[in-house]
Amino acid sequence: MTDRYAVVGNPVAHSRSPSIHARFAEQTGQDIEYLRLLAPLGGFVEAVERFRDAGGRGLNVTLPFKREAFAWAARRSERARVAAAVNTLRFDRDGAWGDNTDGAGLVRDLEDRLGLALAGRSVLILGAGGATRGVVGPLLEAGVARLTIANRTPSRAIGLVDGFPRAIAAGRLRGCGFDDAGEGFELVVNATSAGLAGARLPVADALFAGAALAYDMFYAARETAFVAQALAAGCPRACDGLGMLVEQAAESFLDWRGVRPLTAPVYEALRAELAAEAG
Ligand code: ATR
Repeated sequence: MTDRYAVVGNPVAHSRSPSIHARFAEQTGQDIEYLRLLAPLGGFVEAVERFRDAGGRGLNVTLPFKREAFAWAARRSERARVAAAVNTLRFDRDGAWGDNTDGAGLVRDLEDRLGLALAGRSVLILGAGGATRGVVGPLLEAGVARLTIANRTPSRAIGLVDGFPRAIAAGRLRGCGFDDAGEGFELVVNATSAGLAGARLPVADALFAGAALAYDMFYAARETAFVAQALAAGCPRACDGLGMLVEQAAESFLDWRGVRPLTAPVYEALRAELAAEAG
């Protein structure tokens, strides 16, 4: 019998997840179907329970429901606990299990596709919202030597890092404003939502000086505002978050099916699809 999955969000019409998982299923010979599920704001739990009760096996959860999914899940992975957010639900016999594959997706894209080994690196993340929260734990686990979280509103960055007292005590983690982030970063990651409005981030070009790579956690058919900003600031290499999207999906697929799909061909197909759409 075909097992049913979906991505739940609001909005969800733009989601590439159905196309990614259809490719994974074909590649691995798994018999699944994968849909989009639009839940009304305030109607997340009802939508999820209806999907589960109709025989659904699992869900990806996207904005703005990741924290609600975390609260609703009966059991959670350690990395979901650290992120305080769930992007993957699996409906097991003994209740719903919640995981968060976003951070692992970022780490894999950086290390495997882009060839940037993270151990010992100095990394700057811009932004202190949910996108940042989801990746701090996995970046620390990957052995980043120094992780700085800089935010337009400094108090949010400081509040976020407070959740990682051991890393602070070890001098590996710090929260601050854009103006006192310091310098000497090898990797600069955008986790703000500024780019969604096409806005340039109010940060100094000096933040990018010496960085080998700038990485935008968001993606688009055309060059994102952050990628353009990083290249203009002199960063030699900048890329968007399409690879992270594919990698977090592969990790969810593994959660559900116990098989890890190959991501490189799916990334290439999606990139070509986006380019064709952009014309
Ligand atoms: P979520 O938690 O859902 O990811 P959010 O809490 O709105 O969303 O976080 C969005 C992030 O993008 C925040 O770090 C926000 O900065 P503030 O905490 O100062 O609001 C950041 N952000 C959004 N628009 C921005 C802009 N134009 N310039 C700089 N940072 C911006």
